[in-house]
Amino acid sequence: MKLIVEKDYDGMSEVAAKIMIDEIKNNPNINLGLATGSTTKGLYKRIIDAHERGKVDFSNVKSFNLDEYIGLDGTHPSSYRYFMDTNLFNHININKNKTYIPDGKAKNLETYTKDYDELIEKKGGIDLQILGIGTNGHIAFIEPSDEIAIDTSVVKLTENTIKDNSRFFNTLDEVPKTAISMGISGILKAEKIILMASGKHKREAINNFLKSEKISTYLPASFLYLHRDVTVIIDEAVYKE
Ligand code: GLP
Repeated sequence: MKLIVEKDYDGMSEVAAKIMIDEIKNNPNINLGLATGSTTKGLYKRIIDAHERGKVDFSNVKSFNLDEYIGLDGTHPSSYRYFMDTNLFNHININKNKTYIPDGKAKNLETYTKDYDELIEKKGGIDLQILGIGTNGHIAFIEPSDEIAIDTSVVKLTENTIKDNSRFFNTLDEVPKTAISMGISGILKAEKIILMASGKHKREAINNFLKSEKISTYLPASFLYLHRDVTVIIDEAVYKE
């Protein structure tokens, strides 16, 4: 595991953007695994800037998102589809039909979740996976629990996550209680993984993760120790005691 500690959020975003742009340049047909949330906004902003300056081309890129709230469609301003469209896809030359995000309105969730993993496999798998981390150590929406799902599945969000994510909704009650999330196996199958975190509210989760000597379903991020190419990019606010 490689650890990069930057001064602040901008530094973290800059380093992540540089890696992502280099990966796309090296492989113009890249399959990106993307994450939503405040952490990735600065990264996506820099990717848009680079695209506008003619530095990066998305015409042959495909993307797969980690998760989506059940019950929200892409027109809902708090849906992850809406987030991705407004924070990235609408501003770059990616073919929207090749941007895959779990469908929060899918009818048969059991079949749908299975199909999502198959789709990723069929399209060649994920080359570069971007991850954030929840304050409780979750990645995607894989929540701390006795057991965590291997494959993409329906997950019940914890009170902690519902509260954390309520800032993206008008009220706490509006936050969906369930989501579709990629499973740990899908994430670990990516060729390369970048985990990003910024701000002192992530300090506990990141320190628990960096200090872990064991893998625990109560700290889903700890499963990343099973992967051979993980770069963790954080800022000083996360790292400092
Ligand atoms: C959300 C998402 C995760 C994200 C994490 C951190 O619940 N499902 O994919 O990485 O929480 O979000 P933020 O970057 O807003 O702190």
